[in-house]
Amino acid sequence: MKQMSHLDDIPSTPGKFKPYFHRTRWQSSVAKLAFWSLVFVGLIFIFFYRSPVSSNPDPSRRSLRTYSWGGPAWEKRVRSSARVRTRRGFSVLVTGAAGFVGTHVSAALKRRGDGVLGLDNFNDYYDPSLKRARQALLERSGVFVVEGDINDAALLKKLFEVVPFTHVMHLAAQAGVRYAMENPSSYVHSNIAGFVNLLEVCKSANPQPAIVWASSSSVYGLNTRVPFSEKDRTDQPASLYAATKKAGEEIAHTYNHIYGLSLTGLRFFTVYGPWGRPDMAYFFFTRDILKGKAISIFEGVNHGTVARDFTYIDDIVKGCLGALDTAEKSTGSGGKKRGAAQLRVFNLGNTSPVPVTDLVTILERLLKVKAKRNIMKLPRNGDVQFTHANISSAQRELGYKPTTNLQTGLKKFARWYLGYYNGGKKAAS
Ligand SMILES: NC(=O)c1ccc[n+]([C@@H]2O[C@H](COP(=O)([O-])OP(=O)(O)OC[C@H]3O[C@@H](n4cnc5c(N)ncnc54)[C@H](O)[C@@H]3O)[C@@H](O)[C@H]2O)c1
Ligand SMILES: *[C@@H]1O[C@H](CO)[C@@H](O)[C@H](O)[C@H]1NC(C)=O
Repeated sequence: MKQMSHLDDIPSTPGKFKPYFHRTRWQSSVAKLAFWSLVFVGLIFIFFYRSPVSSNPDPSRRSLRTYSWGGPAWEKRVRSSARVRTRRGFSVLVTGAAGFVGTHVSAALKRRGDGVLGLDNFNDYYDPSLKRARQALLERSGVFVVEGDINDAALLKKLFEVVPFTHVMHLAAQAGVRYAMENPSSYVHSNIAGFVNLLEVCKSANPQPAIVWASSSSVYGLNTRVPFSEKDRTDQPASLYAATKKAGEEIAHTYNHIYGLSLTGLRFFTVYGPWGRPDMAYFFFTRDILKGKAISIFEGVNHGTVARDFTYIDDIVKGCLGALDTAEKSTGSGGKKRGAAQLRVFNLGNTSPVPVTDLVTILERLLKVKAKRNIMKLPRNGDVQFTHANISSAQRELGYKPTTNLQTGLKKFARWYLGYYNGGKKAAS
């Protein structure tokens, strides 16, 4: 307010200056004008400098960050992590390696002697400290996880220069169905732009790697035929997440067709287990039940059951390894197609849908705490009422055969959860 009164002292237009204005007063007015103009410009500068931060969230929440990579020591780490330790082993680039599925797949590949290099941007879609803990786990088994974005073409090219990867296991993505309404561009950034960037680098690599990547059961969308079979229609996505995964399947077709890249898409069905994702129901139900907080359980129209074909992580890992083992080589070289290449898509589910109310009952028994249940109508914002995989195709071609039921798998999850969050680690937030 004091400033305003000062500003009021300045004549609004120069024309109002009187020619016979007292000399020293005139000079002090110019000085005042200059001073307050400077303050004003400064305020404008501060305003424009600060406003984009709040009004324009970074799509990946991290994409503007530059990561440091490169140099002889870094290259040595990359090479050593990707080194194959068995005859006819693979060297695999695993994107999303600090993620739930990525961590398990990387560890399993490393265990059997394949070379593995991880890549992850450690974004904060969910608690990054969990990603860091998974990274530490991988480091202990000899897997280096490079911090970087799949949209960084220079980084990807460098990685392929250092290591002639035979395979890419592409698991980096923006996951989650409901978050798409909050941050739609993060889905475009990672699931579409990032995927295209990765394929561009793969098609130019020499040799071209074979690529196995994660699509999703969500591509079945509003499809009502059960169990879901790969031949069913997938042109009615119920969420932007599903739409970007479906787009990925079409983009995969294009790169296979034009450049001879060998591509296998895996439609995962609700994967759960130790080191899982805090944004998924089984995980936050566990957290809230233990806290004594009420949980929301959705029901369909006419009190219809909401059910999921929950698939245990170890079964998914076997499916991923089966897909890598049966992937044929890409046929192109130097960015040119030399012949037809393999293009596949498989359901990886458990073939036994379980109502979400049963999931809660199992958790109550395992945690020895009664849940406060809040029954709510399933909102129409992306979640479908029912998923059920027909896995006969993966069974036939990948030797995929899930063996863990929900009861057994959740027991392992609960044991991990209690150890991780009560064993000195900070509470899940
Ligand atoms: N878990 C499930 O139930 C499920 C179901 C269907 C499909 N999927 C798919 O499986 C894959 C793995 O899922 P998850 O459950 O392990 O998820 P996750 O979020 O735990 O793992 C994904 C990882 O990718 C990283 N990432 C995201 N965008 C990136 C980018 N632009 N550059 C580099 N890294 C990036 C994240 O930091 C994260 O660590 C995803 O493609 C997901 O869409 C998962
Ligand atoms: C599952 O899919 C296969 C084709 O892969 C089909 O022959 C079979 O009938 C399907 N099973 C069911 C129960 O729909």
